Amino acid sequence: MSFANFKDTIDEGDTAILYLSANSMHAIEVRPKIKNKKDELIENVFQTTYGALKVRDLIGKKYGSKVELSRGWAYVLHPTPELWTLTLPHRTQIIYTPDISLIIFQLEIRPGSVVVESGTGSGSLSHALLRCIKPQGHLHTFDFHSHRVLLAQEEFANHGVAEFVTVAQRDVCEIGFGEELKGKADAVFLDLPHPWEAVEHAADVIKESGE
Ligand SMILES: C[S@@+](CC[C@H](N)C(=O)[O-])C[C@H]1O[C@@H](n2cnc3c(N)ncnc32)[C@H](O)[C@@H]1O
Repeated sequence: MSFANFKDTIDEGDTAILYLSANSMHAIEVRPKIKNKKDELIENVFQTTYGALKVRDLIGKKYGSKVELSRGWAYVLHPTPELWTLTLPHRTQIIYTPDISLIIFQLEIRPGSVVVESGTGSGSLSHALLRCIKPQGHLHTFDFHSHRVLLAQEEFANHGVAEFVTVAQRDVCEIGFGEELKGKADAVFLDLPHPWEAVEHAADVIKESGE
């Protein structure tokens, strides 16, 4: 639940960032046990270049503290959209922080904004948008790839931000964003192979005053 608000201490279920160096970071779901290939519950041990970490040992530690690995040490950091972008599981190409900053700035996205995004992809941009718009705003994100939609929904729920986002499977070039969003969006962002095919649909959902 750790993306929703900053907190001091790591709880079970959080996503924590294990920082070995600026070029070596890992996002870890803090679960004491995981399932192996035979579907058996086993101790969750995370392997790094500096040795192993028993994930249960993170529970109760302060974010920012130094943790021992079997052959060295690392820092355990609070997750942010920036760190998530550097550590997320890639399902697609993603947008990185320097471009994300410019997108948010130029679209004038702020707390309370209603944003429409397609495609969801790996959720890199989505996480940054969510931090910006919550708690009153909402992100409507669309992807035509069903498995990517499912995984994004799971990640948003695990990260405690599901209430601020609706993820839908839809070919936005073919059928647009839906009647219910007409005239509702403050901003629309398209990261698609053929974005021009969705421009007319984007114009339908944008508010008169939107970007
Ligand atoms: C480059 S990825 C988006 C990456 C995302 N911006 C991020 O930062 O993680 C493009 C996504 O658009 C989706 N896509 C492509 N054409 C689409 C369409 N016509 N309608 C909806 N989604 C589409 C793909 O399935 C893919 O997941």
